[in-house]
Amino acid sequence: MLLKLNKSLYNSPANTLFIGSKLIYLPECHSTNTTALQLLQQESLPEGTVIITDRQLAGRGQRGNSWEAVSGQNLTFSMVLRPRFLPIQDQFLLNISISLAISDFLTDLQLSGAAIKWPNDLYAGSKKLGGILIESSLKNAQLEWSVIGIGINVNQKEFSVPTATSLALELGCDHSLQQLLDQLLKALEVRYLQLMKQKKTQELRREYLERMYWLGEWHLFETEGKQFTGKIVGIDPRGKLAVLHQQEEQLHYYGIQQIRYLA
Ligand code: BTN
Repeated sequence: MLLKLNKSLYNSPANTLFIGSKLIYLPECHSTNTTALQLLQQESLPEGTVIITDRQLAGRGQRGNSWEAVSGQNLTFSMVLRPRFLPIQDQFLLNISISLAISDFLTDLQLSGAAIKWPNDLYAGSKKLGGILIESSLKNAQLEWSVIGIGINVNQKEFSVPTATSLALELGCDHSLQQLLDQLLKALEVRYLQLMKQKKTQELRREYLERMYWLGEWHLFETEGKQFTGKIVGIDPRGKLAVLHQQEEQLHYYGIQQIRYLA
């Protein structure tokens, strides 16, 4: 794919070892995840390559949803990783590391009430602040590469849905996108290196649970078109959500397509 080079609004961060060392800036594109996937078909991108844009014409979210963000006001980027060290059955640890990194970044910004809504949405109170879309390719039963798409609402103040928020709304001031990108890429690298080198699986899971939205509280959920009251009690080793059903007093495990949070 021929990428038109433009004067970049973003520079590679000075404070990382490899994340963002190669940074591709596109004023607009369909989706940075799609661009990353296309580039990976054509060339070998160094691990840590970041593709960032001001405007996505067809930003993608989880469950086939779209991701809407006003041009030039938010962080929308994708990062290429090669987590070959991670056994396929432990793939969810990558979600955990990335979610924890963004949560660390939000804590550093003094955002109170930030939580990770399973599997990897970032919430401020009861509103969504950011999301993650991870798309991976497998080769010989190994993770060949993963494209980590991240959208964080930063300076946008109006949303089409009442359930969305931004750092500006939560913290009461605008932020420099470049500065936030530097901070976020650093946080992502720290957590990724921790996963790669220390493999403290139990500790990562524990930290993830500690920051989990609705953990241990009774709420209304929906599965297969039926509503039920349940309590999230954890995740299984593959990352399925463990929910205790109030009425049957039984534990059920759900994948991402199988359960919706209601109220
Ligand atoms: C979700 O919450 O459903 C995931 C949202 C992920 C959005 C980001 S924005 C950058 C990257 N490119 C995309 O098309 N999606 C991700």
